[in-house]
Amino acid sequence: MTQQTPERAIEGQRQDWNRVAGGWEKWDRFFDEQMTFLNHRLVADARLRSGMHVLDLGSGTGYPALLAAQTVGPRGSVIGIDLAEKMLASAQRKATSLGFSNVTFRTGDVTTLPFETNSFDAVTSRFCLMFLPEIPKAAVEIVRVLKPGAWLAAAVWSAPDKNPYLMIPITVIKQFLDLPPPDPTAPGIFRLAKPADLAGMLQQAGFMNLSEEEFVADVRFASGEEYCASLMDIAAPIQNLFAKLSDQQKTDARGRIVTSVDQYRRADGIALPIAVRMVVARKPN
Ligand SMILES: C[S@@+](CC[C@H](N)C(=O)[O-])C[C@H]1O[C@@H](n2cnc3c(N)ncnc32)[C@H](O)[C@@H]1O
Repeated sequence: MTQQTPERAIEGQRQDWNRVAGGWEKWDRFFDEQMTFLNHRLVADARLRSGMHVLDLGSGTGYPALLAAQTVGPRGSVIGIDLAEKMLASAQRKATSLGFSNVTFRTGDVTTLPFETNSFDAVTSRFCLMFLPEIPKAAVEIVRVLKPGAWLAAAVWSAPDKNPYLMIPITVIKQFLDLPPPDPTAPGIFRLAKPADLAGMLQQAGFMNLSEEEFVADVRFASGEEYCASLMDIAAPIQNLFAKLSDQQKTDARGRIVTSVDQYRRADGIALPIAVRMVVARKPN
């Protein structure tokens, strides 16, 4: 299997997430309502308090950075870093419309953080770390920029079989394409799904007080069509797979996706299970 260089992987991520930035903006309110509980969980796990100086990794369109900014208040501050400038432009628009002047967004790579050693009171991250080609290197950077005794709280996707929300389209697309088995060490949605994988890398980097929990929930949709349209608009890795299909296959695949979600239909709509690995760690004093 040809190995991608870290530089190319990062450039690919930047292009992928810039491409879907419009989709994130379109579905922003919907996904904010659906996933906001994760932001509260991260803010609590990172022990955020008024006046803290916080770094959010891979902020995308602003989560959980915006909740962090509200939590630390005007005496505190938040920096959200991300590769994709178009995702960050959306985050900045939201911060401005919410009247937050204590949060700034800047482009950058989590693997080479452009900050001084011991400069943050906490680090948060939602659904970013599994997309890095060099996670151990990023772990060393995160521990470096945290102040002694400060906490990291990160959310990454757990196992594929516990995430029908993400796996339904992937399973359908595989019915049309002969895809090679994914390289388990390549950046991707489930790269950090295994228990203790991320925690182990953080420990190697010097973190202590490691804990992790699989947090299960569901994402609700009014219809299979709404589910299919929203996920295809925002999930860059799934969009990349979908793009390999012919036009006819795309139409057929959409139909199969909509039919597949029917098994998750309840009286009040469709509830698709998700499982998120919440990993928390502390820099030694
Ligand atoms: C699934 S989105 C999550 C965005 C946001 N945290 C959320 O939960 O809504 C993943 C984000 O990670 C960013 N990302 C991926 N690799 C990165 C890297 N090496 N450095 C900084 N950001 C990265 C992408 O650009 C993208 O915006």
